[in-house]
Amino acid sequence: MRSVARVLYAMKANPHPAILQAIAAQGLSFECVSRGEVERVLQSVPGIARERLLFTPNFAPRAEYQWALEQGIRVTVDNLYALRNWSGMFRGREIFVRIDTGRGRGHHQKVRTAGAQSKFGVPLIELAELRQEADHCEATIVGLHAHAGSGNFAVAGWVETARILTGAAAQFPGVVVLNIGGGLGVPDRPDRRAIDLEKLDAALGRFRAARPAPELWLEPGRYLVAAAGVLLARVTQLKGKGDAQYLGVATGMNSLLRPALYGSYHVIVNLTRLDEPSVMHYTVVGPICESGDVLGHDRQLPRSSEGDILLIADAGAYGHAMGSDYNLRPPAEELTIES
Ligand SMILES: Cc1ncc(COP(=O)(O)O)c(C=O)c1O
Repeated sequence: MRSVARVLYAMKANPHPAILQAIAAQGLSFECVSRGEVERVLQSVPGIARERLLFTPNFAPRAEYQWALEQGIRVTVDNLYALRNWSGMFRGREIFVRIDTGRGRGHHQKVRTAGAQSKFGVPLIELAELRQEADHCEATIVGLHAHAGSGNFAVAGWVETARILTGAAAQFPGVVVLNIGGGLGVPDRPDRRAIDLEKLDAALGRFRAARPAPELWLEPGRYLVAAAGVLLARVTQLKGKGDAQYLGVATGMNSLLRPALYGSYHVIVNLTRLDEPSVMHYTVVGPICESGDVLGHDRQLPRSSEGDILLIADAGAYGHAMGSDYNLRPPAEELTIES
């Protein structure tokens, strides 16, 4: 994308070292949200220039900011509290600030990360105060950031974010970067269209033609890795109850939380019976003691048996990364294949 000066991988989507190495080799930078993520990049990609890391914590303890600044890592501040109460830490520093553009956008309420209902960012009505606080602690705001949410397909959203940040930047003469966030949609069903990157590039290009500075940064997470990974799970048991036919597999929300957390749809295929007709409607469930442990509702699949292997698609992002040992069931092991 020619309109974008820098792409940062939002590594929360998948912090596997092999993924980080592959992405670093493509020249991308990294957006990290915890000390652990920063350290993971530094360990996985030896010698990476620190200026390729951006640390964007949210309600993190003071010591994490201090640590990152001492490491020479660029930090995004998410509220006035940090500037007001920890002013000494930011004295003489160049910082980014996350702005709440006022309207969240995303596939589910829980992934809309702007607007009054979301905990992120400095609201636009606090810009004057932000300037005062930054001046007070002698910090220079060199970047403004906004991430409206995840799972977006309409290119107009990023242009709107760029427009709002440009308006805000008028109050901060030091701003040289507008980071317009991630959230590039990944089609969840085969008949859905992918986001049109050329269209996004063209729209942002037109925006930039009118306002060449500051430069634009983009920070996709899921878009870069979702389709690169699948979850494989063996069928354990089957049962019918009421109208439902349950197809149980050996791992569930402990390996892929998205369906339970966001109602997300992931294509499911029975790899053992690829040539057989899909005559059954199954509710595919995991072994976790939660009614919400459902990987897919009402899925048309071949008549399946214990030991079959199911593939659950698009698990490369927010899959293992969100996995847990809940019920003391370890999540599926994450393996990488190099081609
Ligand atoms: C600040 C920020 N940037 C980028 C992303 C990446 O979002 P996505 O994986 O939907 O592209 C997130 C996701 O939570 C985020 O919080």
